[in-house]
Amino acid sequence: MLTPYLRRQSYNGGDQAQGAELAAMKNILGYEGKNVVVTGAASGMGQAAAWLLSDLGARVFALDIADVSAPVEMVLKVDMKDTETLDTAVSQLPQQVHGLFNCAGVPCPPFSNEDTLMINFVGLRYLTDTLLPRIPEGGAIASIASTAGMGWKANLDTIKGLLAQDNSTATAAAWFEAHPDVCADAYGFAKQCIIVYTMSKARELAQRGVRINCISPSPTDSGFMEKLKGEGEMPAELIDMFLPSNGRYATGAEMGEPLVLLNSRLASFVSGLNVPVDFGYCAEVLVGERDDLFGMR
Ligand SMILES: NC(=O)c1ccc[n+]([C@@H]2O[C@H](COP(=O)([O-])OP(=O)(O)OC[C@H]3O[C@@H](n4cnc5c(N)ncnc54)[C@H](O)[C@@H]3O)[C@@H](O)[C@H]2O)c1
Repeated sequence: MLTPYLRRQSYNGGDQAQGAELAAMKNILGYEGKNVVVTGAASGMGQAAAWLLSDLGARVFALDIADVSAPVEMVLKVDMKDTETLDTAVSQLPQQVHGLFNCAGVPCPPFSNEDTLMINFVGLRYLTDTLLPRIPEGGAIASIASTAGMGWKANLDTIKGLLAQDNSTATAAAWFEAHPDVCADAYGFAKQCIIVYTMSKARELAQRGVRINCISPSPTDSGFMEKLKGEGEMPAELIDMFLPSNGRYATGAEMGEPLVLLNSRLASFVSGLNVPVDFGYCAEVLVGERDDLFGMR
């Protein structure tokens, strides 16, 4: 029998046979009865992850600024740029959290550089650091970066400088003010920071059997994309330059599903990885078949 997520997937272009296949996978993913936290669960990739996790038997704790419609255990209203709201949410979460899915994020424009840095990276780092003591051996963290963050190598030392500071918003705000050059591309820089943070945490977490990874999506149809093109006035032709060679935008589910895989038992030896989920876009850039628009080579 198809679960609600899998039925939804059938509506979204999958078919019943595919749904049944996914249902058979349920038990090997290891989520049954586990507590998981999903930020950005109201929409897009986070919503898709929350639906699937719930179907897989996880107890999903959804953190979002907006209303959440996925069938979750508990919804906690947070603003990722306001660490007090994160502290309040964390105080209501269970003592043991098996998986953390960092999906909340905003486009810039229309969001300001400062809000983008705070929501997309500073809040993500703060929440992750705060929850780490509750993640037991076998637990995992998966975050959403972006192909727009793939040029992280050029800023590695600068980002390490930021990561050497404490994780408060006040410290981050002062650091951003002192580094206006990197913050000019607030979105790309925040995503670079997620990638470097992920890689930098892997060693410490491996010592206690906890994994951390991130994905870098190519352009995806979601509330984010509507905002970027609408209020953000980003021309569609510009975004289309970053589409994979299959010529289309991804769906939220096509990003939420690899996140669920990464935090699952099936990826039990995978950590410190930034996985481009882009139908080969980054691969084409890396082997010189496409222009290196994000400076990743
Ligand atoms: N859509 C794309 O093309 C694309 C590409 C690469 C990376 N990303 C990243 O993917 C992630 C998910 O985005 P999406 O495409 O699913 O977009 P989306 O807008 O559908 O989902 C983003 C979610 O984050 C929540 N959110 C926004 N601001 C928040 C805040 N201050 N506090 C708490 N929650 C907040 C929203 O309410 C929403 O539920 C984001 O981090 C985004 O940067 C998106």
